[in-house]
Amino acid sequence: MTKNSKTIVLTGATSGLGLATMQGLADEGHRLIGVARSPEKIAAAEKSLREAHPDVELNFLRADLSSQSQIRNLAEEVEGVLRLWGLDHLDVLVNNAGAVTSWYAQTEDGYERQFAVNHLAPFLLTHLLLPDLQKAPKGRVLTVSSGSHRHTRVHWKDVMLSRHYGTLRAYKQSKLANVLFTYELNRRLGPESKVRAYAVDPGLVNTQIGAKDTSGFVKWFWGRRSRHGNPPEIAAETSIYLACRSSIPYHDQWYWKECHPIPPSPYSSKPEAAKRLWQLSARLCGIEEDLKTE
Ligand SMILES: NC(=O)c1ccc[n+]([C@@H]2O[C@H](COP(=O)([O-])OP(=O)(O)OC[C@H]3O[C@@H](n4cnc5c(N)ncnc54)[C@H](OP(=O)(O)O)[C@@H]3O)[C@@H](O)[C@H]2O)c1
Repeated sequence: MTKNSKTIVLTGATSGLGLATMQGLADEGHRLIGVARSPEKIAAAEKSLREAHPDVELNFLRADLSSQSQIRNLAEEVEGVLRLWGLDHLDVLVNNAGAVTSWYAQTEDGYERQFAVNHLAPFLLTHLLLPDLQKAPKGRVLTVSSGSHRHTRVHWKDVMLSRHYGTLRAYKQSKLANVLFTYELNRRLGPESKVRAYAVDPGLVNTQIGAKDTSGFVKWFWGRRSRHGNPPEIAAETSIYLACRSSIPYHDQWYWKECHPIPPSPYSSKPEAAKRLWQLSARLCGIEEDLKTE
């Protein structure tokens, strides 16, 4: 570890983009807490990371991010690891985990699964870890969104899509929610805050995301489409850049692709939509709407 080593929590750390991001961050000598749901995948990821980086300070925590009680336990466990490592702050949270689900399914909290995993989980985990991020010299919250946020809106009358569920309809709305959340988090933190939030657009990436909890057609379609995507190691560069480069100016450009800021969709910068989604999400997560600022 060097004096520039950062302490980073990353969700979805055992496959695809998340695993590649962990590997890139380990190459740079950062302290890593990976979050994942499968013990077998955790064991495999931990083994490969430790073999490649024997000196890396690494811990994996297990949580199913569709469950708010597990997210709350996770935040307590993160605190425990920070204490174990003798640290009083967290530098970076990377909300990377994401899911594509072909079938309408409710989580144990009663919410549509993609909305819960892809949006409510980052929303709640960020709130729970914010006090630790606020103690960092430059805290960062990265949420991995997608270019698919551009082609949709929030379906306010049926956010859980219980009446008209569609795989992509739910996915796009959840990825739009990532961008609205990032916009509103920065607005509520204010320009003087030491914490900044960024939405990451990784482009098309060759991973298995569309082949996990999906129908035969979606698996077939994703198999053909993902072949044209970037390898995860290339797509991970933007998250690694935003997590580690301390020289990024704190300006208004908060949606990033290929290590550069680009404009997000006009809808995703609508103040009233961002505020309304924030209020709804706070209610669905059972937390105070107001942020505790530094
Ligand atoms: N692939 C693309 O073209 C693309 C494009 C734009 C944006 N993205 C975004 O990039 C991020 C990473 O996706 P990926 O393509 O790398 O797919 P991936 O390989 O399937 O990675 C997704 C990760 O999220 C984890 N995850 C899913 N549901 C979870 C849950 N309930 N609890 C805990 N962890 C859960 C997965 O765990 P398991 O390993 O156990 O499945 C996996 O580690 C996602 O946010 C996705 O929306 C991907």
